[in-house]
Amino acid sequence: MQWFGLKNQNQQSTYFHSFIPRFISIQLLTMSSSPINTPSPPPYDRVKAVKEFDETKLGVKGLTDSGIKTIPSFFIHPPETLSDLTPRSDFPQPEIPTIDLSAVHHSRSAVVEQIRSAASTFGFFRVINHGVAPDLLQSVIGAIKAFHEQPAEEKEKVYRREMETGVSYISNVDLFNSKAASWRDTLRIKMGPVPADEKEIPEVCRKEVKEWDKEVKRVGDILLGLLSEGLGLGEERLIDMGLSQGRGMVGHYYPFCPQPDLTVGLNSHTDPGALTVLLQDHIGGLQVRTQHGWINVKPLDGALVINIGDFLQIISNEVYKSVDHRVLANPSNEPRVSIAVFFNPGNREKLFGPLPELTSAEKPALYKDFKLNEFLTRFFNKELDGKSFTNFFKK
Ligand code: OGA
Ligand code: NI
Repeated sequence: MQWFGLKNQNQQSTYFHSFIPRFISIQLLTMSSSPINTPSPPPYDRVKAVKEFDETKLGVKGLTDSGIKTIPSFFIHPPETLSDLTPRSDFPQPEIPTIDLSAVHHSRSAVVEQIRSAASTFGFFRVINHGVAPDLLQSVIGAIKAFHEQPAEEKEKVYRREMETGVSYISNVDLFNSKAASWRDTLRIKMGPVPADEKEIPEVCRKEVKEWDKEVKRVGDILLGLLSEGLGLGEERLIDMGLSQGRGMVGHYYPFCPQPDLTVGLNSHTDPGALTVLLQDHIGGLQVRTQHGWINVKPLDGALVINIGDFLQIISNEVYKSVDHRVLANPSNEPRVSIAVFFNPGNREKLFGPLPELTSAEKPALYKDFKLNEFLTRFFNKELDGKSFTNFFKK
């Protein structure tokens, strides 16, 4: 952990040197080396700093609003993450596929093939013409933004890490488990199988969140049908497993970050569930890992971003891929807002594993059977950090 403190000291000294004429800075340095004038600062206490930040209940938005120019040390990511932030320029960036869902009416098999192909390579695709009213796309983003931009007193009421009430607003879901914090705040709302009590959902976004969930569930069921056919299992197989019953929504807010090359908005990770439906605004910053390095998932007006989670990778016996993705820290003065709905099986006590139809002597099951509860407990007690999670259940 030591380097967190060191990194910040270096940063500050370059900062001073670039602003203070050389002779004065030498004088300052000489003066400050005198033991009488400046006692050496206490060592950096990371645990205390993180706790104090959490106790403000203001999130990173609070830090941005305070006008800070340098980010607290515990947001600075390790060198191996930071050196990987700039995309490779030696390769033209591919785009993730965009699939027109309205084509299901006249050429369903072509759409099944497009989805199968995207889900088994990129693990990510966009859908357009999904039938969600453009007004709702706008209003739900606006409502989540409005939640995060409420006065502190309002947000404080739901600032908690626990999910008992089905609603929690928090900066960094993994704040106490991660090596470095990220520049984002999140409102989490449980939508199923037992949804959060309606009164618990903050009023500023209640109506929009409910409508959004209804529409996302509708689109999610269409996609599960197509993904199921893509596995050669018929339209109902994945839906019958209850994969759209357990739904959780997160409304992320990524405020302006004064040092976007020292941190991230959301660490590289895979989603644990079956499927994720994401709505992002026009700011950008979401990236997905491909064989050509990190590529941007560029905002596309009216589109939804879909990605495969670990659970679907496992039950499909790796026909479908759950792929690493991340969000860069936001360098724009305008905050970025995104809303993800995670689809999970409704029953957490049932045993799941690679579907028997997809395993054979030539392609044996790659994973052990497990209960969703065990699976998600592992996820929530660890840092969001890529694929170590599916590996745990590997045979
Ligand atoms: C997530 C996620 C991406 C985004 O919440 O798991 O990957 O753009 N979000 O906020
Ligand atoms: Ni994700």
